[in-house]
Formats: sequence, C-alpha cells, structure tokens
Amino acid sequence: MNPKSHVRPLLTDKAALRLRIVTGIIMFTFVTMHFLNHALLLISEDLAQAALAYFRLIWRNPVAAVLLYGSFALHFLLALRTLYLRRLIGLRAVTVIQVVFGLSLPLLIAQHVVAARIPVMFSGPDADYVSVIRAMWKDGFLGAKMAAALIVAWVHGCLGLYAALSYREWFSRYAQILFAAAIIVPTLALGGILVTGQRLPPANAVGIEQLGRLPSEFEGTWLAAAPNTDIATIERQVYILLAVAAALVLLLRTVRYFRQRESHILITYSHGALVHVPRGTSILEASRVGHIDHYSVCGGKGRCSTCRVRVLESGGPLPAPSPLERATLSRIQAPADTRLSCQLRPNFDLHVALQLEPPEGGDRFSTRTNLEVGREKDVLVMFADLRNFTTIAEGRLPYDIVFLLNSYFAILVPAIEAAGGRVDKYIGDGVMAIFEIDQNGTRDACRRALGAAAKIIAETQNLNNQLMQEFGIDLEVAIGIHYGPAILGIVGYGKVASLTAIGDTVNVASRLETAAKQFNVALAVSETVILLAELAHDGVTTRRIPLKGRRLEMTVLLFSPEQAQSYL
Ligand code: FES
Repeated sequence: MNPKSHVRPLLTDKAALRLRIVTGIIMFTFVTMHFLNHALLLISEDLAQAALAYFRLIWRNPVAAVLLYGSFALHFLLALRTLYLRRLIGLRAVTVIQVVFGLSLPLLIAQHVVAARIPVMFSGPDADYVSVIRAMWKDGFLGAKMAAALIVAWVHGCLGLYAALSYREWFSRYAQILFAAAIIVPTLALGGILVTGQRLPPANAVGIEQLGRLPSEFEGTWLAAAPNTDIATIERQVYILLAVAAALVLLLRTVRYFRQRESHILITYSHGALVHVPRGTSILEASRVGHIDHYSVCGGKGRCSTCRVRVLESGGPLPAPSPLERATLSRIQAPADTRLSCQLRPNFDLHVALQLEPPEGGDRFSTRTNLEVGREKDVLVMFADLRNFTTIAEGRLPYDIVFLLNSYFAILVPAIEAAGGRVDKYIGDGVMAIFEIDQNGTRDACRRALGAAAKIIAETQNLNNQLMQEFGIDLEVAIGIHYGPAILGIVGYGKVASLTAIGDTVNVASRLETAAKQFNVALAVSETVILLAELAHDGVTTRRIPLKGRRLEMTVLLFSPEQAQSYL
C-alpha cells in the first residue's frame, strides 16, 4: 500500500470547490452592486455619487471589507492551486477563458484598487466618479484597461456561477431572466461610464496618480519602499507580487513534472501507441489517458473481460491477479499471458496487445471519459403509463390518438426534466425515466422523482377537464418508482444506440408501475425511496408484493392521486 495514501490533503478538491463558489458569490455580489452603481451615471453623476456613498457604507464596514478582501485573496490562491494541480492539456475552451480571465483580472484592476483604496485607508483623499472617469478619459490606456476589467470580471463571474448553479433544479426556470441580466448589467454600467466621460469637460482632466498621492503617514511604512513612494510604485509592487506568484506556481509545476517522470512508466501498445503514466496506473486508465480506443463493457469492474490484453513484454514482475481477475480470466479460459487491463497495475514498463476491438458503432461511447457510460450507478427509475389506453384508443381516429398521446407526453416530459430527470425511452403510451444522484445526494434525488410524479398526476387531472369535454375520456396515469443500482451503458447499434439503464432496479420499477395499475392507485413507490426521501406518508397504504425471480416479497407504498399530490 502506498504510505502516502494515509496523508490527508490540507484542502480536499470538494472543499476547494465549495470555497471557490462561496468566495466567488461574495465578489460577484460586490461587482454587481458596483456595476449597478455605474449604471446610475446614465441618469446623473449626483445620483451615482449619492448611491456610491451607500455602497461604501456597506462594503467598507469592517465585516464586509474582511469578507470581500478575504474572498479575493482566497479566490486568487485557489486559482493558483488549480493552476498547480490541473492538467492544462485538453481543457475545454470555456475553462480556458475562465482561467485566463480570472488570472488577468488582478492585473487589470490593480491600478484602480490601489488608487481608490490605499490612500483612503490612510485618511487620504477618496476617489469620486467624476475624478476617476476624467482620469480614464485623459489616459486612454487606463480607460481601455478599466473597460476590459469590467467585461473580464463580469464574464468570469457569470461563467463561474453558471458552472456552479446550472445543474440546480430551479436554474432552468430563471435561466432566461439571468441571461438577460447578464447582458443588461454590464451594458448599462459601461453605458454610464461612456456617457459621463463624454459629458465631462476635458480641460479639467486629472491623472490617476493625482487621485491619491500617498499621504505622509506612509513614510516609514512597508508601502514606502522608496522615499517618494506613490500610487504608481505600489501598483508596480502589486504587479511584481502577481508575477512572482505566477512564476512560483510554474516553477512548482515544473518540479512536480520532473519528479513524476521519475515515477512514471511507459506503456506501449502493439499497434504503436505509447503512454506515460504513473506507476500503479491500470492499463485501462493508461488507455484513457492516451485516448486509445479500449473496449470495456463493465467500465473497469473486472467482470466482463472485454478489456483483456496480452502481455508481450514486461520490464519487471507483474502484480499477481486478484481473486476477481483470476475468476474472470478462468471463466473465459484465458491463456497465461492474458490479463484484464482494468485490474493490472504494473510498476514497470509494459508492452501489450489489445485483444478485443470495440464493435464499429456499437460500444463507441465506452472509451469516452463519460463517467455514466458502462458504469454501475445508483439511480432512481420511474415508469409511467396510462391505464386502459388500449381500450380508450379503440374506435378512435388515429389523429385523435396521436393528439391524446402528445398532450399527455407534453405533461410528462417537462415534469421529468424540470425535476432533473431524463426520459430514457418511450414505450407505447408510457415512458421510462432515470433520475441520477447528483451532489445534492440521494434524498434530494428521491424527492425530485416524487415531485415529478406528483406533478404528472396533478397535470393529467387538469388535462382531463379539457379531454372530458372534447373526447369524453379520463386519462389515468400509473407510475412506479424504485431506487437501486443499475448498469448505465450505451445500448443499440449505429445511430440507434443510446444511453440507458439495465438491471434489476429497472425491472422492479416496471413491476411497481404494474402494481399501481393492479391496486388501482396513481403511484406505487418502493419503501426504499420513501425512506430515503424522508417524507411523511401518513395514511398511505402499504403492501407486500412478490417479485419475479425473488423469494422475498417487497414492501410498496400505494398512493391515491390526492396523496401523491402532497409531494408537489
Ligand atoms: S472492463 Fe470489464 S473486465 Fe475490465
């Protein structure tokens, strides 16, 4: 065992992510208020200046100031941490923009912050809108820098918030408003600055350095490195500090790279590919790193044997197969030189030959880094079907049937998607949907699925009011929900392949939907789901139902339409 595996990192990735989100939100709040203040310049300088006084009252009180500057420092340090830890190759374009904008921001705003804040911290002159905008007009470079800072800060903040919040269930409801705000706020802020700049008489323009020459209190302090320290000197010191921090990170990355090289091994493949990976990396992981098409149906669990390789040459002894690997290899009666690449973690250079080719167009997704493909995961599966739809459809025009079904699906699909679920497939007049467990946990996923079921039931009843008048029919929905492990994988062939869930959990959910019809209720939910959701279910009927192929019966909760709607 690696002795380092017991060393707990000072800051886990999860904690770092949370800190980044919290500090980001604090800074984004500041920036939004600041930009809205700029927008008031469109009305008048006096109004903007008066609002600035309140803005300062809020953000210059000791608690808010510590929060803001602490957030800024922490956010910047976390960015340096990311820069140190992350692989820079293969980053998505949006991540590159996020990183570049984030790192350039301190450079862009250093002058503004130093000129506006440092003097006032030492009872020096305070900057006002008119002086700052005049300074921007006098010095075109400064003006361009400030405008760039405004855009860069806003884009960086919006991208960060989008990454942190877009998966939330409520986000899609407000997405359009948020998008509009993301365009309007910086446009108004820039507009305010531009309009004011044009309004001000250029004769009175002053240089930014005149906004806040350091008062005499600075003499002898850490800021007064030279006898005539001024804003420009401090600004230069800030730039040097940022450059040193960036250089230090790059130096540490380089040291780490060379250290890792010493601990790396070379995996070569018979078809000519080669990959450098740390010792102890599995061959399958090496293939992923090297973007090598490597078949692996069970996603690296040692069960399917599709990832098998022949070991052609090894720079040293190989670790013995684990009992799991041995069992799988003996099941396929593999030759002695064959190993499962997902289980084999060599410590020496290795030369291997892949044994199975992914079928063309069949398992083409399994070599992608999509975690949901070919993996066993705990999911919620929902089956929703219409009771007696075959009888309803009898004797009706085909157009009416299509209309009825589409009206029903127009309720079903948005309800599922709004709750973070995904319609997996349509089965005649029913659907199968999957709700995956996200970072909000199982309880949240169970509640989302139950909420979606409640919404489907409620809206189908509303639809019935209309259908009763026009068609004289009542649609009755029957829904089954179960939670448990399922294999998520791409199933199908060629263009008709899609991600789906397979396994016992799916069969049980389907059985629960049948139970809902059998007991004439709207919703049948396994006891597991209700317990995990931690929701009240007083007065709900409980039954034990047999399951095909199982000796033990299963406890199921049966909800009438009214009871189910309590989860809305
Ligand atoms: S991926 Fe299934 S056994 Fe290796």
